[in-house]
Amino acid sequence: MKLLVCGGAGFIGSTFVRLRLQEQGDEVTVLDKLTYAGREENLRDVAELPGFRFILGAIEDPEAVAGAVEACRPEAIVNFAAETHVDRSIAEPDAFVRTHALGTHVLLEAARAADVRYVQVSTDEVYGSIEQGSFTEDSPLRPSSPYSATKTGADLLVQSYFHTYELPAVICRGSNNYGPYQYPEKLIPLMILNALHGDALPVYGDGMQVRNWIHATDFARAIGHVLEHGEAGEVYNAGGPDECANVDVVKRIIELTGANESQIEYVTDRPGHDRRYSLSSDKVRALGWLPRVRFEQGLEQTVAWYRDNAWWWEPIRSGDYREYYERQYGRALS
Ligand code: NAD
Ligand code: TYD
Repeated sequence: MKLLVCGGAGFIGSTFVRLRLQEQGDEVTVLDKLTYAGREENLRDVAELPGFRFILGAIEDPEAVAGAVEACRPEAIVNFAAETHVDRSIAEPDAFVRTHALGTHVLLEAARAADVRYVQVSTDEVYGSIEQGSFTEDSPLRPSSPYSATKTGADLLVQSYFHTYELPAVICRGSNNYGPYQYPEKLIPLMILNALHGDALPVYGDGMQVRNWIHATDFARAIGHVLEHGEAGEVYNAGGPDECANVDVVKRIIELTGANESQIEYVTDRPGHDRRYSLSSDKVRALGWLPRVRFEQGLEQTVAWYRDNAWWWEPIRSGDYREYYERQYGRALS
């Protein structure tokens, strides 16, 4: 396929691009604004492949989007582009509204003008928190953070373009992703790098919040299934095979890195912190998708990747990230 992948320089987007180029032989054009989380380094190993192209630009910029569509004449637009960190959305929500509301609108208009399929990459956080059981695609939308509220708004706009203009659009909602190339503001890479450096491991609240972990390659493959086989107008959940409480994730990382449990520091809880996420994925499983990576083995591989790939994280950990960390956690990194 010929694909325009927006946000393809981020963590999951680059994983998707790598798999589509290497396993499907697709032609992939990435349109990415390269925010703090978007890095060309994430695509270093595929940059020279035939069929790959990178365009610098924002999804909320209609000229940049029209230029990218004109340059690659895609059969489908897949949108990963987003601001993705809940803590940043609490501190500074502006960019979340701009990218998720305005950006998604610009992309939908471009898909409509070019008459192409559209895939919106979304999140389990649109459903809010669930004490027991799992969310299905019919569960009510009850987002609780500026991140999840603006992602929900984008999903509703996508659905309106299907109902009103018959745009062949689909939505794929993933649970918490982990794996190589994830920016270290998120729980797992933050804890791995802090553990390796002897820094404190900041657990929010009581650490008993539960997340439904999915390896990024599994989510990327689910998005591929939805792109190829999903029915227009439909939503597909893609949840990981395992759930784990945050403090247990941190304790396992301590074991895998040889760090010490005394590094755990219980810190002030995130405002409005969702207690548990859990997705039922029966609908995407019916399309032939199955998660391949169990959390235990995926976490071990992820720790090994961060240990072996200092070239990737050293520039982050010595740059603006240090200031972000001090603002967010009130202490400096070592
Ligand atoms: P990320 O933060 O690693 O990457 C986001 C990418 O989007 C970056 O390359 C960034 O430069 C780009 N971007 C941001 N704003 C842009 C704009 N206005 N125009 C163009 N490019 C822009 O995010 P990720 O973790 O890879 O998440 C990708 C998608 O998957 C998001 O839509 C997110 O909501 C969704 N998702 C993420 C998770 C998770 O656990 N990380 C789980 C479920 C769903
Ligand atoms: P995060 O990776 O930010 O993903 P999300 O908020 O989208 O689930 O956080 C995962 C969980 O880990 C969440 O319950 C918040 C918690 N957490 C901590 O306890 N400490 C931290 O330093 C971070 C970043 C997250």
